[in-house]
Amino acid sequence: MDILDFHAAHGDGVVLVTGATGLLGADVVKRWTTCGAPRRLAVLVRDRTRWETLARHAGLAPGAVVAIEGDIAIEGLGLAAGARAWLASRTTAMVHLAADTTFSRPLDQARRVNRDGTAHLLALAADCPHVERFAYVSTAFVAGRRTGFVPESAAGAATEAIGWVNAYERSKAEAEALVRAARSDWVILRSSTIACDDRSGAVTQRNAVHQALRLFHDGLAAMIPGLPDSVLDVVPTDYVSDAIARLALRGGIDGATVHLCAGAGAMPLGELLDECHARWAMDPVWRRRGIELPSQADLETWELFTQAVEETGHPRLRRVTRALTHFLPQLALPKCFDTRVADALLGAGPPPVREYWGHMLDHLQRTAWRGVPGLVEVAA
Ligand SMILES: NC(=O)c1ccc[n+]([C@@H]2O[C@H](COP(=O)([O-])OP(=O)(O)OC[C@H]3O[C@@H](n4cnc5c(N)ncnc54)[C@H](OP(=O)(O)O)[C@@H]3O)[C@@H](O)[C@H]2O)c1
Repeated sequence: MDILDFHAAHGDGVVLVTGATGLLGADVVKRWTTCGAPRRLAVLVRDRTRWETLARHAGLAPGAVVAIEGDIAIEGLGLAAGARAWLASRTTAMVHLAADTTFSRPLDQARRVNRDGTAHLLALAADCPHVERFAYVSTAFVAGRRTGFVPESAAGAATEAIGWVNAYERSKAEAEALVRAARSDWVILRSSTIACDDRSGAVTQRNAVHQALRLFHDGLAAMIPGLPDSVLDVVPTDYVSDAIARLALRGGIDGATVHLCAGAGAMPLGELLDECHARWAMDPVWRRRGIELPSQADLETWELFTQAVEETGHPRLRRVTRALTHFLPQLALPKCFDTRVADALLGAGPPPVREYWGHMLDHLQRTAWRGVPGLVEVAA
């Protein structure tokens, strides 16, 4: 059942969406409001003016979506009593995308939004007698330091003994555990890291992948973690938001965990770096600088390297390795995400990474790495 069928079955109930001002949330809401769905959408936003500006730019009809001010990090979500009562009487589904997506946050800060924020939303759901679906958008990297084949059924919290690369991964795994324990009507949609908007390679939101690439491009990373069988699993935004729009409210999939990942279409790290070199070397200025791409080392060697840099390194090198260390260790923890549930539900997976990787590199260069922190920002 997709959103239209769900509406037909649930009348005029409200779907409450968090994270609607974010990359994925905005796209999901746009998809739902433009598909002629009759049911009402409400968005929980921290800043109503910001939401209204975004909604206007996205071409949403005024009043198509009810905006409710709130903050998931606050117990009770900071909701006005009237808003809470309105939601309690009408909400039939919650789709939770809001998160602190910065990899470098300390654990307590990541937990405040990602774990505790989810607990606060679950508490609201418990007070809404008509809620029949709690969809949680998570990350495939709740798998943390796990290596090898990662089944969609693998619970993120089961990674506890192995650990996570950063506090973001851990706090998202903890949030998943809360969702599973609190309800039976959940679905968990785990996205891989987003690399670009779509097959064109255009990049709207820059993240740790782009920052790492810029540091490689500028010759600032001498070594990165990586093993011969390392791959980079990334996905385009349009695949993930389409999947969320189609699955979050689908009936008959309570208790499903779905990997929205490249899976078998992930790109081997060596091939990916070669492609970077080939593209960048087309620029005679870059070629003349004689920049070598970083060498790959196992995790132990990388950790010794970063430790040595911390203790004795130049401050600039220290900032570069710190910027990379919240994300890059995943490259030396090779894993293949199972996507069988996703493929069966959606009918097709995302495009293989090698189909758009070159376009994405071209886009970053054409836009002069705008919005991606480079030497100046990292060394500031
Ligand atoms: N993008 C990716 O590569 C990726 C990969 C895997 C999983 N995911 C997951 O997908 C979801 C959406 O990611 P995204 O990339 O769209 O995120 P994003 O662009 O960073 O946006 C985060 C959203 O969460 C909201 N938010 C943050 N703290 C909040 C708070 N205390 N109260 C209420 N709202 C708050 C933000 O609102 P403001 O506008 O007020 O800041 C924004 O709407 C997240 O759960 C993320 O973990 C994303």
